Amino acid sequence: VLEEKDAVEAAPCPHAASRAQSLDAMPGPTNWPLVGSLIELLRKGGLTRQHEALVDYHKKFGKIFRMKLGSFESVHIGAPCLLEALYRKEGSYPQRLEIKPWKAYRDLRDEAYGLLILEGRDWQRVRSAFQQKLMKPTEVVKLDGKINEVLVDFVARIGKINDNGKINDLYFELNKWSFETICLVLYDKRFGLLQEKVNEEAMTFITAVKTMMSTFGMMMVTPVELHKSLNTRTWQDHTAAWDRIFSTAKVYIDKKLKRNATRAPDDLIGDILQNSCLSKKELYAAITELQIGGVETTANSMLWAIFNLSRNPGAQKKLLEEIREVVPPDQDPCGEHIKSMPYLKACLKESMRLSPSVPFTSRTMDKDIVLGDYAIPKGTVLMINTHALGSNEEYFDEGKQFKPERWLRANTTINPFAHVPFGIGKRMCIGRRLAELQLQLAMCWLVRDFEIVATDNEPLDVIHSGLLVPNRELPVAFIRR
Ligand code: HEM
Repeated sequence: VLEEKDAVEAAPCPHAASRAQSLDAMPGPTNWPLVGSLIELLRKGGLTRQHEALVDYHKKFGKIFRMKLGSFESVHIGAPCLLEALYRKEGSYPQRLEIKPWKAYRDLRDEAYGLLILEGRDWQRVRSAFQQKLMKPTEVVKLDGKINEVLVDFVARIGKINDNGKINDLYFELNKWSFETICLVLYDKRFGLLQEKVNEEAMTFITAVKTMMSTFGMMMVTPVELHKSLNTRTWQDHTAAWDRIFSTAKVYIDKKLKRNATRAPDDLIGDILQNSCLSKKELYAAITELQIGGVETTANSMLWAIFNLSRNPGAQKKLLEEIREVVPPDQDPCGEHIKSMPYLKACLKESMRLSPSVPFTSRTMDKDIVLGDYAIPKGTVLMINTHALGSNEEYFDEGKQFKPERWLRANTTINPFAHVPFGIGKRMCIGRRLAELQLQLAMCWLVRDFEIVATDNEPLDVIHSGLLVPNRELPVAFIRR
């Protein structure tokens, strides 16, 4: 499950036949006792600049390097050939870094784990219940009606709330849009987040997700057991937030299940709820995590797409031409239209290369493997550096420029393993198809109705805050066409 034109015929890895060396021989930044590279990283701008530090380290140490931050050691991969090797050698149940605070909450309340935190056979069982439908473009395209229902309101809101074309806190508006969409897809429920006056239930729900996301980071770097036993404020807030998320989600999942009992399910999620052999508890957790996984990632990718289009009026003009050619003036853009819009797809792909939302993902090896020149022992954490790959000139010529055309060349030399914004292999993002459709439709609706203009051309600083975000309000305006 890679890209459409997957990397199966990628160029052979130059390291493939080498004799493996031990991890100790792997290069990497300073490794001082106790702190490892922490001080060096802090000097380079700290954790908020870690994506830039990783690019520098790949330039300095090459395709693979090793880094220790305090007691946490990881091996960093920034080359398509190594990623391909990893993809081919991964076991049946790939693992990411554990999100211990989430697990601690579920254990406390006797709730199940969802796809983001499940492991082993249980992960595979839940994954296969969703995989068939959620990863199939012909199934996902049927969700275009729901996606468009929210887009009608979103585009109207952009037209209404702008001040000379400028939107105050565009990122929050986009988060409300993606939240509203995923809730409609998962629960058949409109929360009304795009209305002028947001109702209390919707506000409580979105605030709970925000609180949960902002409290778990601290418990990833300090022991969650300590927070739990001391009943720290962070632990209390985290637990209360999950309580609210689960109680709301359960109400709407139950309603959907009840409807299914009296009539055949009429959508993808209804089908999964009806036909999977997962327990109710497992469904609650899996659906809730789909929601958590799908909100900020999609909003963030849309933010960057808007930014890249604002700074590249030539590409935006071409995109508008394609939209006008494919979507008749008396119709709204829909899933069927997207099929004939290669430039739109290339614009999104290029935006996700140049400005990925998720700078890296991880794998914890469940067996010993050989990767490139090195023997990687079981238990090693591998970091897949998506951002470093996408910004490497070796894999993308004129890589700092937004050039959708690079994806449309007949004989492209781009290695698909150089572009992995949704991860790789069996454990890649399960919401990918849904996110792509949602983003492509949103780009269509917005560009058709508005010219997205840059309000300044100063460089935009990017910081790492879980996702890669701009460090100031996006300098864009929406001018009605
Ligand atoms: C996993 C990115 C949208 C649900 C992931 C991973 C990445 C990612 C990088 C890790 C993959 C790996 O480790 O190989 C994104 C981006 C999105 C997006 C950039 C938007 C543009 C969504 C949506 C949903 C979703 C809309 C829900 C419908 C998930 C889940 C996982 C995941 C449940 C864990 C899958 C598993 O471990 O089996 N995503 N995602 N994501 N994503 Fe997304």
